[in-house]
Amino acid sequence: MSLHTYRAEGDGLPIVLLHGFPLDHRMWDDVAAQLPPGHPVHAVDLPGTPGHATDLPEPSLEASADLVAEVLGAAGVDSAVIAGLSMGGYVALALLERHPGLVAGLALVDTKSTADAPDARANRLRIADEAESTGSVDPVRPMATSLLGETTRAAQPEVAERVAAWIDQQEPAGIAWSQRAMAARPDRSDVLRAFAGHVVVVVGDEDTVTPVAAAEHLVATAEGSRLVVVPQSGHLSSVEQPAAVASAIAELAQAAG
Ligand code: MLT
Repeated sequence: MSLHTYRAEGDGLPIVLLHGFPLDHRMWDDVAAQLPPGHPVHAVDLPGTPGHATDLPEPSLEASADLVAEVLGAAGVDSAVIAGLSMGGYVALALLERHPGLVAGLALVDTKSTADAPDARANRLRIADEAESTGSVDPVRPMATSLLGETTRAAQPEVAERVAAWIDQQEPAGIAWSQRAMAARPDRSDVLRAFAGHVVVVVGDEDTVTPVAAAEHLVATAEGSRLVVVPQSGHLSSVEQPAAVASAIAELAQAAG
């Protein structure tokens, strides 16, 4: 678990980026580079990422959220715009529940607030066991294509290669931990419903993992929230169309500040 600081200086609200699975902070690089000056920008490498896959607590996103709060507190961040993509969004909602004072605004990117259906949960536990027993990331390698939209796969093959390389660099023990943590998460729609701060919901129009319907559910849950549908993007909008995602987060930071 560590903090990656893209930009330390700035008087504006800090922006904190929480990554998806099975990835790490690098999936935010292109967004971070396009966020407006004036805001410190940090990303967190969540439990399970390379170098942070051993000596972990029981798998849970509550543990991830507590560790995020700890690492932000140590860096002097006590209030921030929190942007979470997919698993990062699940962690952002756990953070909102357990450390509400930290969340000044929320960007929920290609994510959802509901829990897994039983078959999805069983599939996660199977992948966790398989990653552990084979000692490899093979069970999640196909995600290098399934996370991306069809337009990206056809028009930006270098993006697919980049994502595949990031997945190859993950650790099997970390894959297992994160899958078990996600499998255990509850529905946090009520936590989102009770949040009075600014919310933007972002989704790729070709996202098949957490599709537009999941984003519409988030918008219906968070009163007053804004929906941004990113054209020509799958589930990894921060990598596929970073300018659109950066612009949605920048507007949120301005509104929340
Ligand atoms: C992610 O991108 O974080 C994963 O697709 C999340 C999930 O498996 O639910």
